[in-house]
Amino acid sequence: TTRVLTGITTTGTPHLGNYVGAIRPAIAASRQAEVESFLFLADYHALIKCDDPARIERSRMELAATWLAAGLDPERVTFYRQSDIPEIPELTWLLTCVTAKGQMNRAHAYKAAADANTAAGEDTDAGVTMGLYCYPILMAADILMFNAHQVPVGRDQIQHIEMARDVAQRFNHLFGAASGREFFVLPEAVIEEQVAVLPGLDGRKMSKSYDNTIPLFAGGAKALKEAIARIVTDSKLPGEPKDPDSTSLVTLFEAFATPEQATAFRAELVAGLGWGEAKQRLFELIDAEIAPMRARYEALIAQPAELEAILMAGAAKARATAAPLLAELRHAVGLRRMV
Ligand code: TYM
Repeated sequence: TTRVLTGITTTGTPHLGNYVGAIRPAIAASRQAEVESFLFLADYHALIKCDDPARIERSRMELAATWLAAGLDPERVTFYRQSDIPEIPELTWLLTCVTAKGQMNRAHAYKAAADANTAAGEDTDAGVTMGLYCYPILMAADILMFNAHQVPVGRDQIQHIEMARDVAQRFNHLFGAASGREFFVLPEAVIEEQVAVLPGLDGRKMSKSYDNTIPLFAGGAKALKEAIARIVTDSKLPGEPKDPDSTSLVTLFEAFATPEQATAFRAELVAGLGWGEAKQRLFELIDAEIAPMRARYEALIAQPAELEAILMAGAAKARATAAPLLAELRHAVGLRRMV
């Protein structure tokens, strides 16, 4: 069997980028025979970017309901909150002790903050917490704790998966070489090429940090329509030929369309389809896929006790997998109990 694992940080309201980059492919994979899936809410990661407890709590429940509404079957999938698995922070420490500081200096999230500080003439590390700096190690622990083979993610996460491979290799080498034991599988990123980076309203990567997202379920069909109306286009009038690559509208359309629908849509734009009409088509296309899920989402979000019970059952399943491996790792590094 192949183990597939992915997580989403619980800092905001799930958007279309999360859906097409991670949720949709992970759920499709989880339905295949021979696949064992681990899907989780990355709430320890949320603490790195967010010090608003109410927002984290709300986001955790929204994300839990989103995964389930999108078709995750908690009987088939191990579905849990990262913070319910104490083995993960424990493994994080074991990995921290074999990770080179120089490698963390190169991690994108840290480098972006450091470069911005330098450009602004500030101290390089101004505002950088150790959480941000060591973020890739926590993520490596998420993946290695369950020995995942495949990690479906958007392109922005590739570097993190590569770092997880490096750490795994180093740990295997340091503690397994003598006994010929490979503790960790080397994980691979699985990227859906066509939607590896879904653009947002302004054409940049759709991201909470750019405030250019289109919500998946929040606010209902009305919010979806309003967000789509704000997608940036040029001011060409109906009847004028449009450049389909001049806006993120077509890329968004392609993320939900069949190849035939996408080709036809491009041709119509070149032939003069108005942007207003094009946006209406995009809305209808996306809504057709997500409206049934939205109804389930609204029912689930009103049942916090039920969500909680599903997550606690998932945590028990996850820990049953994590605990024996962690015991082996403790033994390997010299933390075995005497009696
Ligand atoms: P996060 O929460 O930023 O994003 C969750 C997932 O959504 C994908 N994504 C996108 N994909 C395509 N286009 C976009 N515009 C877009 N925006 C977001 C991300 O690539 C990601 O797959 N560190 C991770 C969470 C995490 C994790 C893990 C993932 C923690 N531990 C272990 C996999 C395995 C993060 O912050 O993703």
